[in-house]
Amino acid sequence: MSSPAPFFASSPLSITSQRRTPKSRFTYKQLHQLKSYSPQTPLRVIAHVDLDAFYAQCETVRLNIDPSKPLAVQQWQGLIAINYPARAYGLSRHVTSTEALKACPELILQHVATWKEGDEKWAYHEEAFKHIATHKVSLDPYRMESRKILKCIKESLPEKEQRVEKASIDEVFMDLSAQVYTILLERYPELGGPPPYDDPSEYLPIVPTTVLDWKADALVETGEEDGEVKDPDWDDVCLVIASEIVRDVRAQVKEQLGYTCSGGIAKNKMIAKLGSGYKKPNQQTVIRNRAVKHFLGEMKFTKIRMLGGKLGDEAVAMFGTDKVRELLEQPLEQLKRLGDDTGSWLYNTIRGEDHSEVNPGTQIKSMLSAKSFRPAINSFDQGVRWLRIFVADIFSRCVEEGVLENKRRPKTINLHHRQGAQTKSRQSPIPQGKPLSEVVLFDLAKNLLAQIVVDGRAWPCANLSLSVGGFEDGITNNKGIGGFLVRGEEAKAMMSNNRSSISGSEPPAKRRRTKGNIKSFFGPPSKERKDFDAARAVLKAHQESTREEEDDNEEPDDEEFSAPPLEESKAKPMTPTTNRHESMDDSFGARTSPSAQLQIKAEPLPTQELRDHTPHPIKQQPYQLYQKKIDTFFCDKCNIHLPITDRSEHDDYHVALDLSREMRQEERNQPLPTSAVKKTPVAPKPSRGRGRPPGGGNGSGSGRAVEKGQAKLVFGRQS
Ligand code: CTP
Ligand code: CA
Ligand code: CA
Repeated sequence: MSSPAPFFASSPLSITSQRRTPKSRFTYKQLHQLKSYSPQTPLRVIAHVDLDAFYAQCETVRLNIDPSKPLAVQQWQGLIAINYPARAYGLSRHVTSTEALKACPELILQHVATWKEGDEKWAYHEEAFKHIATHKVSLDPYRMESRKILKCIKESLPEKEQRVEKASIDEVFMDLSAQVYTILLERYPELGGPPPYDDPSEYLPIVPTTVLDWKADALVETGEEDGEVKDPDWDDVCLVIASEIVRDVRAQVKEQLGYTCSGGIAKNKMIAKLGSGYKKPNQQTVIRNRAVKHFLGEMKFTKIRMLGGKLGDEAVAMFGTDKVRELLEQPLEQLKRLGDDTGSWLYNTIRGEDHSEVNPGTQIKSMLSAKSFRPAINSFDQGVRWLRIFVADIFSRCVEEGVLENKRRPKTINLHHRQGAQTKSRQSPIPQGKPLSEVVLFDLAKNLLAQIVVDGRAWPCANLSLSVGGFEDGITNNKGIGGFLVRGEEAKAMMSNNRSSISGSEPPAKRRRTKGNIKSFFGPPSKERKDFDAARAVLKAHQESTREEEDDNEEPDDEEFSAPPLEESKAKPMTPTTNRHESMDDSFGARTSPSAQLQIKAEPLPTQELRDHTPHPIKQQPYQLYQKKIDTFFCDKCNIHLPITDRSEHDDYHVALDLSREMRQEERNQPLPTSAVKKTPVAPKPSRGRGRPPGGGNGSGSGRAVEKGQAKLVFGRQS
């Protein structure tokens, strides 16, 4: 970024003497673009705020512990958050609680809250770390604090001039442009007049002061000899004002809730995020435009968001460096070896360009509750007891999302079951025409587990995870055409439940309901009889209770259910502006093996086993064929048009993708003692010849969390 020193400029109409009037580098147009949060103006001001040692602070605040005492949050034998006094002893997330106590005997260890098997509510249990077999971690207390903090931040900003995006459980982005614009015009009324010659491309007058008061903020150096002596321009003034706002917001959070946080203030999200992690705890860093080049040059590019994962690793391997400064030497053509779009994106990113917007509208899309069992569980009853906890966990979060008021509600429920490297999943729609309750969810969940059990080989089970997804704004309980259509679709999907596995394993081949399942016909071995019968009874009861609805509605038929067009979407160039880039490869069966395709063609349709192992098949019929015949919708995630009739299934596919990331997030939160197991990729059994199991077969890797915000933990930590 070149220095914004004043220079001489004017309208072509101006006379020579006017031409020598010093001007700002910025135009009236760029100034006015602030009002509308335009990502194009170089004056834009974005802040990122991240809570210091968040879970640890939640515990010091909750327990009213002196924050200068070393404290860590424990999960089983591992540590998941360490406060700054404890970090002074060299403690990090990688040590066990025993090792931590050795290094710092006065360390306060607080275990996370847990759900105890059979309990209706999570609690802080004594010696919870001993109960990994019967308890499940709850992050609810931290989610609740997160919500309070978000509310406090929003209340600290003017109601009509705020744009706040929750970026994870402990961070937010704020676009302060509009608020800064207002303050700027109050302080410098001369900016409020019309531009000379009414020409918005005219340059602004120079800043009337040569010294700005940055208070105690950490100012990133410009790296240029005369960087600090050059007079400020309006971009610096905007950043000073933004910095005052952030200081005030942070003070409010501290005063009202007792939490310290760190802030980054810059011209875009990427740099602001790097800024908040630059000086911690309880500080804020301003990266002036004149300092961007120097700031980024010193960085490892793997710290930049989207470059923390595979893409960053790939770039490191390709160019033999992880330093921005060295990557800057690579011409665009070289960077394009990573792909045209990716290369261009990377080229701009390391030069400090990021036009992504702060998005306040992003809401929770799915919720997940999961548990890895150590030891594995072995019966339907045991599984059902865990489902009770998952449902209570998820439902309480649904209530906070406003399901009781029908503000928002989920559309689908999914159950994933893992046995070794093999994952099975079942999905069903959530009936929309009646109020959502814990009982309704529990019944659906139990039914999904029963399906898996009846299909055989469910035990021992190493992991169960239940999720709800497809959140939509609530539909009122009307009986109009919309309601009918939803119910018809639901009924159809209900009847075809066994084939609507969200694992992406649903073959599109025709299926006759009457064919049934070969395995259920013969039945499982007698030692499993009791378990099997219990599951069958649940299925039967569920079918009875839904029969009426089904009969009222569209009768399911042999209609082909098409699969999400994974190959088509994969073929699209991916811009690394979303998580897709990393997620596609290891998502639920994103590829189809030749053997899987062979199986799909076979009629009649396969047993459950095939469904469990077959990756999502490619749509056999080219899109263009049915485009002519039927209505389509546009999936902005895949960037393609699809038949409208495929919409719900396609949405489910995205839910499944989200779920795969969430599962990994959940596993990241359960660091010990099986981390070694989880980190070892388990290849799908080739002998089955049925492609990769859903979730890529290992369930490890970086992932996205349930709440939208946690998703962005993948940006990578700055510490
Ligand atoms: N977290 C986690 N597992 C991870 C990363 C984060 O459980 N792999 C949790 C941590 O417990 C943390 C919270 O998510 O408290 C926020 O993470 P982050 O901001 O990365 O770290 P902090 O603990 O808040 O520390 P810092 O002060 O460095 O931000
Ligand atoms: Ca943090
Ligand atoms: Ca964070």
